[in-house]
Formats: sequence, C-alpha cells, structure tokens
Amino acid sequence: MTTLEPYAVYVHWPFCLSKCPYCDFNSHVRDSIDEDAFLQGYLSEIDHYAETHPDITISSIFFGGGTPSLMSPKTVAAIIERILGHWSAEGGKSEGDIEITLEANPTSVEAGRFAGFRAAGVNRLSLGVQSLVDADLKALGRQHSVAEAMEALRLARQTFPRYSFDLIYAREGQTLEAWRTELAQALELAGDHLALYQLTIEPGTKFQGLYNKGKLVLPEEGLAEDMFFLTREMTASAGLPAYEVSNHAKQENRSRHNMAYWLGRGYLGIGPGAHGRLKHADGTTTATNNWKKPEAWLRAVTANNNGRQEYQQLSAHESGVERLMMGLRISEGVAMSDLPKGVVDESAQKALCDEGFLKLDNGRLILRQKGQCLLDHILVTLLA
Ligand SMILES: C[S@@+](CC[C@H](N)C(=O)[O-])C[C@H]1O[C@@H](n2cnc3c(N)ncnc32)[C@H](O)[C@@H]1O
Ligand code: SF4
Repeated sequence: MTTLEPYAVYVHWPFCLSKCPYCDFNSHVRDSIDEDAFLQGYLSEIDHYAETHPDITISSIFFGGGTPSLMSPKTVAAIIERILGHWSAEGGKSEGDIEITLEANPTSVEAGRFAGFRAAGVNRLSLGVQSLVDADLKALGRQHSVAEAMEALRLARQTFPRYSFDLIYAREGQTLEAWRTELAQALELAGDHLALYQLTIEPGTKFQGLYNKGKLVLPEEGLAEDMFFLTREMTASAGLPAYEVSNHAKQENRSRHNMAYWLGRGYLGIGPGAHGRLKHADGTTTATNNWKKPEAWLRAVTANNNGRQEYQQLSAHESGVERLMMGLRISEGVAMSDLPKGVVDESAQKALCDEGFLKLDNGRLILRQKGQCLLDHILVTLLA
C-alpha cells in the first residue's frame, strides 16, 4: 500500500579507507571490494521496492556512508538512473528538482571524482571536513589535511549547485575562543548549509575506550554548552540559522532529505545497514532494517532481491514516540495532533513548559533555546 506523500531514498555505501576512532556508523574497511557485485545488489533492492511501491513519488536521494565518494561515478550514475527510471518527482516536478546528495571525504583522490558525480546527477555535496586544524584532524583519525579540505571545498563550490560541510566541535583541548575562530572561518567557507556536531562518545568506538580510561578528556559540560550557544549565535548572525539541533541553513536551503526523517515521512533504505520507513494508506508504518555486514546484505539481496534482516510493523504508540523524537529536533517542533494520545506525559509537558524548556505554539510542541542541548533528557521526561 502506498501514500501520496513523497518518499526519500537512502542509499548506504558501507566502506571507508580506515575507521575513525569516534565513529559508530555502519562502516567497514576491506582490502578489495567487488563494486560490480554490490551494484547488482543495489539495483535488485531498488527493483524490489519498485514492485512493492510502484506508485510513490520521490523528493530526494541521499548517498550516505561509510564513504560514498569511494564509489565510482559509474556506479552512482547507474543507481540514480535506476531510481529515476522507476519513480517520478513529487508533485509533477521535473527530475532535476529531486535533491540528490552524496557524502564525500575530502581527500584529493576522491575530490577528483566530483565532476563524475555531478555528471551522474548528484546536485548536492556534503563534505566531511570535521576540523579546520591539522593537529585536530590527526587526533580525529582523519586521512585528510586542512589544505585538502580547502581544495575539496573549492572544487565542490565550482562543481555542485549546493554543498554543505560537517565540522565536529567540543573536541579534546578545544577552547571557546579556538572554536569561535574556527567557526568564523567555516562561515566564510560555507555554501548554503552547515552541519556542526558536538563530539559524542559512541559505544564500542576507540574513543569510548580511551575516554573510559581517562586518556581522552572532553570539554566539561559547561564549556560544551557555551560552544553550542556560541554556534547558534554565530550561525544566525551569518544567515545560516539552526533549523535542527546540528544543522544550519535558511528555510529554502534545508536538506530536503533529512527533513523527511524529521517530519516523519516515508523513506526507502537501500544497501547494507540501511533503515527504511514504509508508510501505509491506513496510517501505519513498517520499519525495515537491512543486514549491516556488507557481505551478509549482499548474500541476502542476491537470494531475495532485498537485504532486509528485520521488517517490523510499528504500533501507533511506537510511531508516535518516533515522531516526537524526530520532530523536536527541528525548529518548528512537532504538531500535537500528529501524536497519538498517551505518547506525551501531560504533566511532564506542562512542567517542562513552565520551566522554559519547551513551548506550545499553535498546537506545536517546540524546544526553546534553553532545552536545545538537553534534548535527550527532555525526551526521557516527556515520554509517558
Ligand atoms: C557518516 S558520517 C560522514 C561520512 C563521511 N564518511 C565522513 O566521515 O565525512 C556523518 C557525520 O557524522 C558526524 N559524526 C560521526 N560520528 C560522530 C561523533 N561521534 N560525534 C559527532 N559527530 C559525529 C561527522 O561530522 C560526520 O561527517
Ligand atoms: S567518520 Fe566517515 S570516514 Fe570515518 S569511519 Fe565513519 S563513516 Fe568512515
């Protein structure tokens, strides 16, 4: 069953040149990769969804990773072509209106492929710059230098109609003044979008081991919070206001793809470890989770035309919880009318509003500035 709301399509490329010590994304390092075999897997999985969802329209395609800029432009082109061969753009728009983003790492090798990605149809590049300080790139285990990031940014600006880049702040040893200087430089280099993430210690990463042993020391909470608010202030003054916890752009330049997640829309998950949300006409949602290990996904997709490990019908309550968690991330919050009764604890909501963490505005529940860096805590309190 399908719905009239457009879908987003997420394509996961799970390989990287090396594993960064802070990263818990589904990324794997391999001596060699049979790219053609993986391409056949992607095409089969796309064809599978074309059979089950022939009538949907799409608003965006996102190549995420891992490091999708390690794919050959030929592979990216074949995947885009297959998707556009099955589905048309939302609301009768032209194919060119579909936002097609690719995440890239700024090493020279990959930057040379930018023209190929553009020719394949990619119209938005998201570059993982992470830091504008060489010593910090090294500490983050990155393979590129600041000079390479600058060159990749120059090429991105020249090649793609839209580009964004990511930085990680609240790094070990970083002061508020150092972040102010780095962010000012980033704002000079920025296109229409910036993603600025506070460093988090993720379970199972090398950084977690070091952190637990006291060998990695992060800025204390008060300083990290000051950095967060400084980020809000400087990006807003530069005309790139926060529209989500970590994402900054004017209304018209928001990532349409990520907005689909935050607005609770449907999306197809293609590739190893990709998640999907299939929306049904009766208002229910099915969550799909693909096999994470690349070889396990490839085996499954070769045998069944889809690489799903799990296919789970979400209850109305589960969908509502997800809707709340996603919706509170964006500046316009979430409509209370989208949340089934019983998702939000009404007395906790009232208390959080009274204390200035949340506000109810025209039927929408919105995080106030004071609540922005306490989202996880607020969600725990709010969920009935
Ligand atoms: C899947 S990664 C990006 C892909 C690309 N391979 C790269 O490294 O640039 C998406 C973004 O999440 C952010 N990220 C990943 N792990 C993080 C962590 N532990 N703390 C903060 N940001 C993180 C980084 O900024 C990264 O660019
Ligand atoms: S941060 Fe990016 S490059 Fe590093 S391991 Fe994760 S996905 Fe790969």
